[in-house]
Amino acid sequence: MVDTNTTDPFVMEKSAEESQPQFHQHGEEIQRFGEMRLFPIALSHEARTESCQLLNQILADTTILYSLYKKHHWLMRGATFYQLHLLLDKHAGEQLQLIDLMAERVQTLGGVAVADPRHIAELTTVPRPPDGVEEVPAMLSRLLEAHEIVIEGLRGGIKRTAANGDDGTNDMLMGDVLRTNELQVWFVAEHLVNVPVVHI
Ligand SMILES: [Fe+2]
Repeated sequence: MVDTNTTDPFVMEKSAEESQPQFHQHGEEIQRFGEMRLFPIALSHEARTESCQLLNQILADTTILYSLYKKHHWLMRGATFYQLHLLLDKHAGEQLQLIDLMAERVQTLGGVAVADPRHIAELTTVPRPPDGVEEVPAMLSRLLEAHEIVIEGLRGGIKRTAANGDDGTNDMLMGDVLRTNELQVWFVAEHLVNVPVVHI
């Protein structure tokens, strides 16, 4: 006699049932944005909270700067297209590494890193560019202005984290994020100098 339970393809065997992924699961937030968890890193709740707030602001502005680099990498044109196309993508890649560094620092401190682009758009202070294409010098100037907003946040953050004794965040903001931004500003700004190429 045939066992219909095991031959019927529509009846799942027990082992298959146990390994079946459980789809469409929804639940409540288990940590709200701005709420802190406690890790044993000998740093006060106040210091960690302030670091997470300032890191999330820099993170939001940096994510927009990253997006501006990709936008201008794609929309670049003109005689220096190839050089700028490559340079802006290099800078975008470096900014992406900083984004990961800062987001994971927020998590390390017990906070919640801003991540969703719609949330980032609410937090950022970098002006929105037109959806279309600007002249090349305008695109480069826009990048420099976004950099300066990030750098201003960084300088404030470096002072606050030093005052609060958050050495880990202070070191990261100064050694990784600030210096990368300053170097990128130099490389972009040199493309806005009107120097003769052949004749003086
Ligand atoms: Fe590309």
